[in-house]
Amino acid sequence: MARLRIKDILNTAPTEQTITVKGWVRTFRNNSFIALNDGSTNNNLQVVVDFNNTPETILKRITTGAALSVTGTLIPSLGKGQTVEVKASSVEILGDSDAEKYPLQPKKHSLEFLREIAHLRFRTNTFGAVFRVRNTLAHAIHTFFQERGFVYMHTPIITSSDAEGAGEMFRVTSFDIANPPKDEKGNVDYSQDFFGKSTNLTVSGQLEGELAAMAFSDIYTFGPTFRAENSNTARHLAEFWMIEPEMAFCDLNDNMNVAEEMLQYVIKIALDKNLEDIQFLSQRLEEEEKQKPQNERSELNLLDKLKFCLENKFERVTYTQAIEILRESNHNKKKKFQYLVDKWGVDLQSEHERYLVEKHFKKPVILIDYPKEIKSFYMRQNDDGKTVAAMDILFPGIGEIVGGSQREERLDKLEVRMKEIGIPVEELSWYLDTRRFGSCPHAGFGLGFERLVLFVTGMTNIRDVIPFPRTPKNCEF
Ligand code: 4AD
Ligand code: MG
Repeated sequence: MARLRIKDILNTAPTEQTITVKGWVRTFRNNSFIALNDGSTNNNLQVVVDFNNTPETILKRITTGAALSVTGTLIPSLGKGQTVEVKASSVEILGDSDAEKYPLQPKKHSLEFLREIAHLRFRTNTFGAVFRVRNTLAHAIHTFFQERGFVYMHTPIITSSDAEGAGEMFRVTSFDIANPPKDEKGNVDYSQDFFGKSTNLTVSGQLEGELAAMAFSDIYTFGPTFRAENSNTARHLAEFWMIEPEMAFCDLNDNMNVAEEMLQYVIKIALDKNLEDIQFLSQRLEEEEKQKPQNERSELNLLDKLKFCLENKFERVTYTQAIEILRESNHNKKKKFQYLVDKWGVDLQSEHERYLVEKHFKKPVILIDYPKEIKSFYMRQNDDGKTVAAMDILFPGIGEIVGGSQREERLDKLEVRMKEIGIPVEELSWYLDTRRFGSCPHAGFGLGFERLVLFVTGMTNIRDVIPFPRTPKNCEF
């Protein structure tokens, strides 16, 4: 008989029909009541075993974590918290789980502990909810762009360029690193390496994305990116997923509109499709916040925060205005920032971004027109000679969730800027060809997927929204 999923069973009218269900035991009480879960929902299905007619050898093997196949009749439930239950006629043990040794006991475990057993944490309510929401968000992103005629472009994982020019790359080599070939000068000779040159894992698919946008008009990437930045924070991963749309015939304003529309669209889909999971996560967050002092707790719960983002336009502010707000803030005057804001030109730290969003504007903020010195070489230079047409979207509790810009489409200006900051013009000749042949105004942005998942799930550490996090000194599983 075909297996039914628990999510569907729980929404079925019970007419004593015979069904088969398979899943893992969460708990087994009084030798009678199994709470069974198959990952389709956080709600368990209650299976009632007739212990008088079930062999002792089977009963003993119904332990937390064991995999079962159950056939029985679906009947109304008299118990609290469920409308249906299964009266088992047969219970088959598919896989035993030694209750003494099973690391996931039916009790509350800390998120830190669960990170150490990330191979099993999918089986908890919290991670069940997180990864179902993550799945919905990934699908919603594709739907958003596909519905608007964007072409999904697979940009390379291994590259020989540094898209962000920040030098935070993981090298890719097939050399014996204890003994690599050297040239006459004693430098490692990459011309003998696998690709005949020095290569690395990509930090961004943008440069290749721009090439494709110059043919398809609108494209997006959605893939893994890698950064060897030594940031051991709750918001940085060495391997993360990024969504990068790139649009021809598009300026900074259009770019902001697409980003805002996309974020609101995917959050709305998650609320529609995963309301139960988000309600669960909202409660989890409230519990977690109770541990914090009153003044550090957020004013809105998770559900309200998400709805608030859907109902309010994001605030659009220039970097220059933001610096003024920060400089004049009581926070700055009372030296509550770790990094004080004293002059125009400084890079914003996440404490500043969060102040603007959480304390000052109290809604998502799009900051534009940053000083060119603190942004990447490809951003379009504004007429003031000082700023570039950049945009960062800042979210409550997260800080920067999106980074993007209008691109410098004027060959001469781009080349001058590249030379100024030492980006090799020769090596990026293929990139500059887009400016030589049919250049046009274009823009794009990168959304950090895990930061989006953090926001929508209300989790507080980015290590808890990607299945197997890679961070400095940590690459388990
Ligand atoms: O601001 P970033 O560095 O921008 C780019 O890479 C551009 N090429 C994007 C573009 O215009 N096509 O990164 C974009 C986003 C950030 O806003 C952040 O959400 C996320 O990627 N991000 C990270 N997420 C997790 N861990 C890290 N180490 C991240 N670094 C950036
Ligand atoms: Mg950025």
